[in-house]
Amino acid sequence: MKEKKIEAILEVKNLKKVYMKNDGEPHVAVNGISFELMKGEIFSFLGPNGAGKSTTINMLTAQLTPTDGEIVFQGQSLKDNPIFAKSKVGVVAQHNNLDRGLTARENLIYHGQYFGMSEGDAAKKADELLASFGLTDWGNDYVKSFSGGMAQRLKIARAIMHQPEILFLDEPTTGLDPAYREILWQHVLKLNKEYNTTVFLTTHYMEEPERFSDRVAIYNKGAIKALGTVEELRKKVPSQTIITIVLDALNEDVVKEVKSLADVKDVSVKDEKTFVVYVDNSQKVINELLALIDKKGLALESINLSATTLDDIFIHLTTNDIKND
Ligand SMILES: Nc1ncnc2c1ncn2[C@@H]1O[C@H](COP(=O)(O)OP(=O)(O)OP(=O)(O)O)[C@@H](O)[C@H]1O
Ligand SMILES: [Mg+2]
Repeated sequence: MKEKKIEAILEVKNLKKVYMKNDGEPHVAVNGISFELMKGEIFSFLGPNGAGKSTTINMLTAQLTPTDGEIVFQGQSLKDNPIFAKSKVGVVAQHNNLDRGLTARENLIYHGQYFGMSEGDAAKKADELLASFGLTDWGNDYVKSFSGGMAQRLKIARAIMHQPEILFLDEPTTGLDPAYREILWQHVLKLNKEYNTTVFLTTHYMEEPERFSDRVAIYNKGAIKALGTVEELRKKVPSQTIITIVLDALNEDVVKEVKSLADVKDVSVKDEKTFVVYVDNSQKVINELLALIDKKGLALESINLSATTLDDIFIHLTTNDIKND
């Protein structure tokens, strides 16, 4: 059997973006990141709010000029040839960038034609996608009358009108109900399987990368903290079992005492009520935790034992940063 050749479709070298804030202070949104996007992979770029994900996507899709660094798309420098890259990508931007003065159907057809489709092909594809995303009855309505979820569905349909080589999805399922989330993923996985479309995804719903990604980058404060398959990232957390505890109020003392228990590998504080305990011997630690909570006179709201998920990996790799703010 012929082996599939794995090659980089996009190379990102030392990419940097510094914004100037209104008070004249510079803000480093992306601080010199480097990675390669491989042809045909589904790559998730995960990070907290404000980490610089959309800024990165805007640079990779030639909508924003980097302060420094290099982006090479299929061997060509993006800076030297932005039109080439733009013609090959599909983007679901985070904000609503539909043409409000056009109908839904026109938004799709004009986009298809812009990317070289004939009017007939574009119209046929537009009708298929409108049907798929439950917008047939709204096809001739102006986009300005659309609800948030309808606009999001149309943005997704538009991004896949022209079978892009790389599909950039910036929080594509935000505002979508669960049924349309599934429809989005059916389309994305079909494109990926049939046309080897590369996918670059940002999302705050961790189950999506866990289910669908080949590789995940955990990114925070302008830098990549970890990059690999979900299985590889799993090894970066202190244990494969965690206990999540919610108390009426959390204090440093409790966290310190829990940390000192034998069989506790590490503790991360998730929010003002919740902490996560990485353990080896879960049964023993649960008993000890319950005794400790009782001794301290604290009110337990919930306790949950689970295998580490991508959510936990994400929190583990980004909370220390947040706490140090
Ligand atoms: N045009 C701009 N001018 C100045 N600062 C900006 C601009 N755009 C973004 N920023 C800042 O850069 C940082 C990164 O923003 P960005 O939108 O890339 O984050 P994000 O990771 O996409 O966040 P979210 O998960 O909320 O979408 C933020 O602190 C933001 O305030
Ligand atoms: Mg964003």
